[in-house]
Amino acid sequence: MRILSGIQPSGQLHIGNYFGMMKPMIANMDQSELYAFIVDLHALTSVQDRATLAQGTLEAAADFIALGLDPEKCLFWVQSDLPEVTELAWVLSSLTPMGLLERCHSYKDKVAKGIAPSHGLFAYPVLMAADILLFQAERVPVGKDQKQHLEVARDIAIKFNNTFGETFTVPEPVIDANVATVPGVDGQKMSKSYGNTIPIFSDAKTLKKRVMAIVTDATPVEDPKDPDKCHLYSIYKLFAPAERLQEVHDLYVNGGAMYGKIKLELVDLLWEYFREAREKKQQLLAEPEQLRAILKQGAEKARTKAILTLDLVRERVGLKY
Ligand code: ADP
Ligand code: TRP
Repeated sequence: MRILSGIQPSGQLHIGNYFGMMKPMIANMDQSELYAFIVDLHALTSVQDRATLAQGTLEAAADFIALGLDPEKCLFWVQSDLPEVTELAWVLSSLTPMGLLERCHSYKDKVAKGIAPSHGLFAYPVLMAADILLFQAERVPVGKDQKQHLEVARDIAIKFNNTFGETFTVPEPVIDANVATVPGVDGQKMSKSYGNTIPIFSDAKTLKKRVMAIVTDATPVEDPKDPDKCHLYSIYKLFAPAERLQEVHDLYVNGGAMYGKIKLELVDLLWEYFREAREKKQQLLAEPEQLRAILKQGAEKARTKAILTLDLVRERVGLKY
């Protein structure tokens, strides 16, 4: 099984990114052909500061490895190191109907949030389709917010195959129903662009501040509450051991759940959960040359695969004369 996913180096990694995308990717490392990459060309649509983008790329690489990705067991690279992807994106662009892109809510959401409405932002899903189709990916683990982009990639693959002959694998999204959308501290989808995240690698003080900011209702402690309607519980259940989770669940249902206490418990759980990764990330960032070497090596490996697909595409569409 070929499994592929990418992440933008556009801000601090948060628990939504981890559970929505990174964890399922890493869990597949041993039994699949895994393709993991950092999409710096996509990030360029929103990050237009040289140092921030370059440092963000190294940080994202360190995040992936610190959280358990083994670059020896997969293909791991930075998107812009493979020129094949932008060439394929152009070819795909030429057969992507405008209407398909006009329907994408991610573009509208980003513009509504203040990101400049550039051509790159509009064409973002085509570049993403190129990322996926270039490697003939079969499964793409993502959070629910990326579902529509996956549909675009599928539509483009089908259209290409119908026009030029069977060329691309049509990819399937993998969206874990339990963590499809991790809520942010305000209850909306957790997202870097909403400023409502719980960053995985923040210092202890910031972490506590973020957890204490999780919005809860004003139901009195002794009243019963529905745990499935509580954002705090949705986050807590990702980290709590099964037995304790059952106890807390019962407190919600029968009355007696104290939000403040649960939050403090969550702070400790989070701190412990990511302790090892935190230390590993620091070590990795202390040696950026080594990180760069890992990424360059990964790009070389990925490129051998990319060239095969691009060569076939060039032939199919008539770019070989
Ligand atoms: P953000 O919305 O914070 O900018 P990205 O767009 O960089 O996040 O998403 C990176 C990956 O993490 C994607 O696969 C996305 O679906 C997933 N993801 C992001 N936020 C969440 C969330 N709140 N719950 C589940 N998955 C998420
Ligand atoms: N659009 C994805 C996001 O914002 C990132 C991404 C780019 C991606 N290319 C991809 C995800 C290919 C999966 C497969 O999170």
